Amino acid sequence: MASISTVRTYTGPEIDRMLESGDVRGKVSKNDLPTPALIVDLDAFEDNCRKMAGFVRGAGRAFRPHAKTHKCPAIAKYLISQGAVGVCAARLSEAAALAAHGVTGLLVTTAVIGRQKIERAIALGAMRPETIFVVDDAENARRLNEAASAAGLTLHVAIDLFVGNRTGVAPLAPAVAVGEVIDGLSNLRLAGIQAYAGQASHTVGFENRKLVSIEAMTPAVETRRMLERKGIPCPLLSGGSTGTYNIDAAIDGITELQPGSFLFMDLDYSRIGGQSGEIYDDFRNALFVIATVVSRPKADLAVVDAGYKAFSTDRPFPPRWRGGAEYPYGFAGDEHGRIALKDGQSPRTGDRLEFIIPHCDPTVNLYDRIYAVRGEQVEAVWPVAARGCSQ
Ligand SMILES: Cc1ncc(COP(=O)(O)O)c(C=O)c1O
Repeated sequence: MASISTVRTYTGPEIDRMLESGDVRGKVSKNDLPTPALIVDLDAFEDNCRKMAGFVRGAGRAFRPHAKTHKCPAIAKYLISQGAVGVCAARLSEAAALAAHGVTGLLVTTAVIGRQKIERAIALGAMRPETIFVVDDAENARRLNEAASAAGLTLHVAIDLFVGNRTGVAPLAPAVAVGEVIDGLSNLRLAGIQAYAGQASHTVGFENRKLVSIEAMTPAVETRRMLERKGIPCPLLSGGSTGTYNIDAAIDGITELQPGSFLFMDLDYSRIGGQSGEIYDDFRNALFVIATVVSRPKADLAVVDAGYKAFSTDRPFPPRWRGGAEYPYGFAGDEHGRIALKDGQSPRTGDRLEFIIPHCDPTVNLYDRIYAVRGEQVEAVWPVAARGCSQ
């Protein structure tokens, strides 16, 4: 293993070339990364993957983690190597970016609305025929069918069910009616149901969360049974999240889990409470932003080079120093953050501080790369290939 002192002999442009090419192993230390830098702690990340994949496998469910969290083909492929049947993608463009990098088994969790999006769905379906698209409206199903028929394709579709959170057709009879339409269309194949209960995922307190999730998912299970009683096969019922994985896996009739944030964990998720206490610690914080102290204007103030452009700001709490509460962070503009110091604290200009992020998905979307770090060494560079792909 290269020592840090060896690593430090590279020039800035040499480091940039290595980061660009990904040829970093044994050469680049995390201290070499230009900041602000988004890093994943590989030991924690691998533990999180092992735990979730092992749990889902043990529960006899399929595992299709949501790629909206990481947007990285490298991570999607790693998860598939760990037993995932594929990954979910929030949007068509996100799915297309993943598919272009060889990711298989995609479930696009947002409906495909409008002629141009349907054309893009057809292109994706032609490239990756196993892709599943969601539908919550009979007319939209007919439009997709016409396009699939014109292209000579069969598209797999799942009914997007409204289970109290965002989109979807109402469960039971309305959803069954959409299922009957799909079943009667020549170029659509009903894969099953998608039911994502986002309101359950962040419900505080494990017992409360359990009640909310069971209440949301019970009609989804019943809808699946109703379709099957009508002789319409409904093999898939996909749902669940990092907050509810161990609740939903115990609900008979849910066939597949699609959690995302477990990979990285963020401050928001830590607050929902676990089975054994106030902090949800089923998974470890694995994603951090490294910032550099760039100014010490006063004895009680250090300024770092990471602000609104380095962390998502959609939560009412700031990033937290990885080491604890000692260096409280406050936003100080687009490019800066301020650390209020107490007497005797002396981070120096040039020191690096690592922060746990408030909300992982939108923070990842701010970066071109995630640096995969073990200890001090950068082992890999993961391009965030679907960064900005929100269409
Ligand atoms: C449709 C869908 N499925 C699964 C997830 C994963 O949830 P989490 O990141 O809470 O595990 C999300 C997150 O927003 C989602 O939108």
